Amino acid sequence: MQSIVARSAIRSSKGFRTFATSAARSQAVPTEKPVVNKEFKIYRWNPDEPAKKPTLQSYTIDLNQCGPMILDALIKIKNEIDPTLTFRRSCREGICGSCAMNINGQNTLACLCRIDRESSKDTKIYPLPHMYVVKDLVPDLTLFYKQYKSIEPYLKNDNPPEDREFLQSVEDRRKLDGMYECILCACCSTSCPSYWWNQDEYLGPATLMAAYRWMADSRDSYTAQRKEKLQNEMSLYRCHTIFNCSRTCPKGLNPAKAIAKIKLELATE
Ligand code: SF4
Ligand code: SF4
Ligand code: FES
Repeated sequence: MQSIVARSAIRSSKGFRTFATSAARSQAVPTEKPVVNKEFKIYRWNPDEPAKKPTLQSYTIDLNQCGPMILDALIKIKNEIDPTLTFRRSCREGICGSCAMNINGQNTLACLCRIDRESSKDTKIYPLPHMYVVKDLVPDLTLFYKQYKSIEPYLKNDNPPEDREFLQSVEDRRKLDGMYECILCACCSTSCPSYWWNQDEYLGPATLMAAYRWMADSRDSYTAQRKEKLQNEMSLYRCHTIFNCSRTCPKGLNPAKAIAKIKLELATE
């Protein structure tokens, strides 16, 4: 008898659940989690009602019935409270860049941004700033993509190797680190004061970093032409190195550094 008791004690210590222990636990621990109500104030604007001014609409949800991220809260609100709430999302893991928005004053990705569980403070959510709004949290990125297209974001080389792919040394490949990871979420460009006021002509940090990503690529033979396109007053030189862009990047990239490198290369050639 003693050895049976000893064996069951060993089993329990290794984490096996016995009927007795799970029953005792269900009596001791309440299964229902307490309600943690949190208020979200979300920017609303509907193009079908153009006479109506934008408003902040309030929604309250129980955080214990919701995933941990802001995107989880938005999806819960849309699914369970208000199906008219409009926002972009796709991957929900910081890869597609589509859920970029302004959360409590910071441009970031809703799927990578944790909900502040302090229930006495509301969370305010706006679309990316200084952009035209398509609806609610959806900014119009037409100009942003047009600018990106303008820098020809692909490999250009008039003399490609005939019988094999382009080769690149480990050192040259390393020069692209910190730039190729950009997901074009536009958080940086829409946090840049120069871009706010001059976005018709100034390319902004995301597009300029993409431009430098191709200038720095040892396989590309159009570096001189790429630099030439930036030699004007507006495309590049509206950057005043304030670093808002690098501070806000949800992928931890440093577009201000890439812009500084372009300026240095243009100044020293
Ligand atoms: S460093 Fe340049 S690109 Fe970045 S926020 Fe400042 S002005 Fe804009
Ligand atoms: S540099 Fe960062 S913030 Fe800017 S577009 Fe790329 S991932 Fe987004
Ligand atoms: S849903 Fe893709 S980055 Fe957030």
